[in-house]
Amino acid sequence: MCGIFAAVSNESVTSTLVGGLGTLSYRGYDSSGIVVSNENGLVRRRAEGKLESLSALLSDQPVEGYVGIAHTRWATHGAPSVINAHPHMTDRVAVVHNGIIENYPALKASLEKDGYVFESETDSETIPQLISRNLDKGMSPAVALKDAVRQLDGSYAIAVVFADEPQTIYAARYGSPLVIGQGAAGHFISSDSIALSRVARNLCYLDDNEIAQITVDTLSITNADGITVAKEMKPLVVSQQDQGKQGYKHFMLKEIHQQPEVMRNTLNHYCDPATFTLKEEAFPANLSSFERLSIVACGTSYYAGMVARQWFERYACLPVDVDIASEYRYRESPLSTNTLALFISQSGETADSLAALRYSKEQGLTCLSLLNVETSSMAMESDCYLRTLAGAEIGVASTKAFTGQLLVLLLMSLQMGKASGRLDRDAERELIKHLFTLPVEMAKVIDEMANIDTVAASLMHSDHTMYLGRGMSFPLALEGALKLKEISYIHAEAYPAGELKHGPIALIDNKMPVVMIAPPGPMMGKTLSNLREVSSRGAQVILISNGAGIEMAKQHITQAIEVPETAPLLQPLLYTLPLQLLAYHVACMKGTDVDQPRNLAKSVTVE
Ligand code: F6R
Repeated sequence: MCGIFAAVSNESVTSTLVGGLGTLSYRGYDSSGIVVSNENGLVRRRAEGKLESLSALLSDQPVEGYVGIAHTRWATHGAPSVINAHPHMTDRVAVVHNGIIENYPALKASLEKDGYVFESETDSETIPQLISRNLDKGMSPAVALKDAVRQLDGSYAIAVVFADEPQTIYAARYGSPLVIGQGAAGHFISSDSIALSRVARNLCYLDDNEIAQITVDTLSITNADGITVAKEMKPLVVSQQDQGKQGYKHFMLKEIHQQPEVMRNTLNHYCDPATFTLKEEAFPANLSSFERLSIVACGTSYYAGMVARQWFERYACLPVDVDIASEYRYRESPLSTNTLALFISQSGETADSLAALRYSKEQGLTCLSLLNVETSSMAMESDCYLRTLAGAEIGVASTKAFTGQLLVLLLMSLQMGKASGRLDRDAERELIKHLFTLPVEMAKVIDEMANIDTVAASLMHSDHTMYLGRGMSFPLALEGALKLKEISYIHAEAYPAGELKHGPIALIDNKMPVVMIAPPGPMMGKTLSNLREVSSRGAQVILISNGAGIEMAKQHITQAIEVPETAPLLQPLLYTLPLQLLAYHVACMKGTDVDQPRNLAKSVTVE
């Protein structure tokens, strides 16, 4: 989604602004722009498409200065175009905005009535126009901004520069994150901390209704009552692991390879490696007091919830509902306070998940979130949260955050089983011991996917594919199909293999490759029967299984991806890897933009 970067520096800011936007580009965008404040006033450059277009424009029409604001836009109100790109401005003020102004039609009508002329179709342009009207009434920049944001309904993170106060940038937030960095060269503002790592040493987060004012060497923050807020600046820590592609062709590939490390960090955070037991203090205290679990999430995080449902049922003996966040609020399902509401989100900013969390809180439920970003809105608004330790994930298609979520959910289900007395010490030790083999087993699977290129080559010309699995392999099939759709743009459907005969089998012919996920276990025989059903109708079948499964099905399959024998507990985590790698290699062969697929955004902050 949209990204904001702003700088007041003792060095020229243009390349810093464009560099900052480059770091934010993983969030997804379709146009970009900057405003620099210099001796000519507020000078704007905007371009549609990738950042290269903005860089090309800036080398054609250079602009330099020590103060500037910048933006990557992911279109919501109005098509991706130069005219709709940020910054939006009048001759007195320029603004970059992330969020949605819900009451913009009324505000716009009132401004137009007063003679203010809009050039774009965006909700965001309302903000500079409102500020300008206040300036025209004689208000100072600080008062004009404060009064303008008071009139906004919806969510916003904004950075603002005034023609009359050219050495200062203001920032304000409500519902959309904003972080302020302090570095050797000055002060900086961004939508997330990753973009500050090149320029800042310390940072602080703005809270809702606060307004910050930065110059090259000062930072002041006031709250809604105008009272100065003293914020602690914390050192900016971005792990080496999270920086750059580190020799990999894409962030997604790097992140796939980081998964053993993520597993190791997660296990060490939640378990004691000396005793193979769960660290009780790493989990919220009252987990055993709930009689029902309601999991709510979107996309990949929702699929993690679907896998985890079976762990919570098995180990904690809890009834579990799993809902898509955008549907959950509107279902009017009866909620009772003995239900724990669990929200899963990598970003912690997903608008639908955040709205579902707020709804659950209103209904009196205890809300626990599982998040990859500790400073996110969902972390702030939940009763408590658990961390995934995936580190920054830059590839839009989630990989390491998904497996990170799976592992924490599995550990949480064991902790709930333990807390309620259903899981005894010996069983706990046995299971945790297996889990500690996961980093090595994952690394082995990733390194040994030797034939994945050949399998990918057989899929790359397909228009459609079907992914099938039973039990936990069904949500994995959904996740595998989503990965393929997201980055290769090949249509992929996923079904529980047993559902095939109830409709989807009509789609099967020799143009419909089928990816069949069949780990060893009680479901394998039935899954292989489904495999024969599709193969006898002409489908090319790609089987993901162990050696024995592949041997059993060899007459009915076109290709196979072998996953080494493993403890059943580890299967969902290990069987995810070939699905990620398959999608990745198909996308590379098709030459798509793997890390920033079309139309997608990393953090979906609109409903
Ligand atoms: C797909 C993917 C998305 C996200 C979804 C929710 O690869 O990552 O489906 O899972 O947009 O985002 P979060 O987890 O940040 O709430």
